[in-house]
Amino acid sequence: MEPVLTQFGDRMSQLTGVRAIMKDIIETLRAGKGQDFINLSAGNPVILPEVEQLWRDCTTELLESSEYGEVVCRYGSSQGYRPLIDAVLNDFNQRYGLNLSDRNILITPGSQSLYFFAANALGGYTSKGTLKQIVLPLSPDYTGYGGVTLFPESLVAYRPKLDIDEASHRFKYRPDFSQLQIDENTGFVLFSRPCNPTGNVLSDEEVNRIAALAAPQNVPIFVDSAYASPYPALNFTEMSPIMGENIVHCMSLSKAGLPGERLGIALGDESIIQTLEAFQTNLCIHSSRYGQAIAARAIASGSLAHISESIIRPHYQSKFTVLEQTLDEAMPDVPWFLHRGEGAIFAWLWLRDLPISDWEFYQELKQVGVIVVPGQSFFPGLRDDWDHTRQCCRISLTATPEELTEGMRRLARVVEAVYARSPVMA
Ligand SMILES: Cc1ncc(COP(=O)(O)O)c(C=O)c1O
Repeated sequence: MEPVLTQFGDRMSQLTGVRAIMKDIIETLRAGKGQDFINLSAGNPVILPEVEQLWRDCTTELLESSEYGEVVCRYGSSQGYRPLIDAVLNDFNQRYGLNLSDRNILITPGSQSLYFFAANALGGYTSKGTLKQIVLPLSPDYTGYGGVTLFPESLVAYRPKLDIDEASHRFKYRPDFSQLQIDENTGFVLFSRPCNPTGNVLSDEEVNRIAALAAPQNVPIFVDSAYASPYPALNFTEMSPIMGENIVHCMSLSKAGLPGERLGIALGDESIIQTLEAFQTNLCIHSSRYGQAIAARAIASGSLAHISESIIRPHYQSKFTVLEQTLDEAMPDVPWFLHRGEGAIFAWLWLRDLPISDWEFYQELKQVGVIVVPGQSFFPGLRDDWDHTRQCCRISLTATPEELTEGMRRLARVVEAVYARSPVMA
């Protein structure tokens, strides 16, 4: 049977960005049975024993408590499970000297759903027919933003400026404020900090500048903090959450070991929180209460913040060090640039003047048993034809140090061969 799909049905039944490539990767891994691929494409976090133990302990406590039936056998409030709301508010108010109340918080089933609510409540067509844009101020950014809106024409991303250090083969993206437009047509602004895929962390000054541009227009800024402190604390440079009247601070517990339980948290202005909450009630009522109950325990006891800093962060940071040292040793004399590793669980490599496309480069790497993600899928909303989008790849830090070392050595050999076939003009 082939039912006729609506515009929305058609839009939502398509795989966008990296999910489309994942299909090719899964097929490659399946077809290559026996061949040992070094898979550097994964976005799924590593199961770290200490983190798993924390969730086991919280589950045991929950099972033994009288709260259990109330948690799993009953519906709850759409806003979230009260002990989790209290734990997050207490933690943030104490840690950062804030004055947040229960009107400023919403628990969602994962943070992806939060962006879906925002994209369709604040982006798209108003009742007067004007198109409200979802502005991504710095492209590349999280590929999942490509699929959240029912009106793809509302998604607008801006090309960044590049800070390049030729000698050390490092670079960093920065917002290009001479281009960035936030005006009456902007519905909201969205970016990840730390960023998936690049590991970039926008500076406090950059975030404040974006927020200041948006404030006079009453435009909210959603800061996707899926990798930020205090949990999972996957920032390798100093940073703290920036709160403000028009800032919605969005968190996820996925990289803190709970991706399966689907837990996102939004902190922000009461009126925005209410809009998002109503959207959630209509869509799915509320997030899993089991996940919320164990998260409440881990946050209230301080264990989650502690494990994030002492276990999760060093795990990925040391992998980044292995990766960059191997590239420094193994890469040939071509214009390669690694994005500064400021956080998240990925490394981002730019091969300037790459003689083939990122997709072809991905195919060549497969031939030597290495799988990365071609960069093109990480520029949702960018309309410019920019050759840079075809010169990058994302490398996951979820592999073992040995796999990362071997993977980067093989990658360096492929890079050498590709540039030798078609030498770059100096
Ligand atoms: C930057 C970023 N934002 C949001 C998400 C979605 O996370 P979740 O829906 O699991 O909270 C991810 C997942 O990888 C991500 O990398």
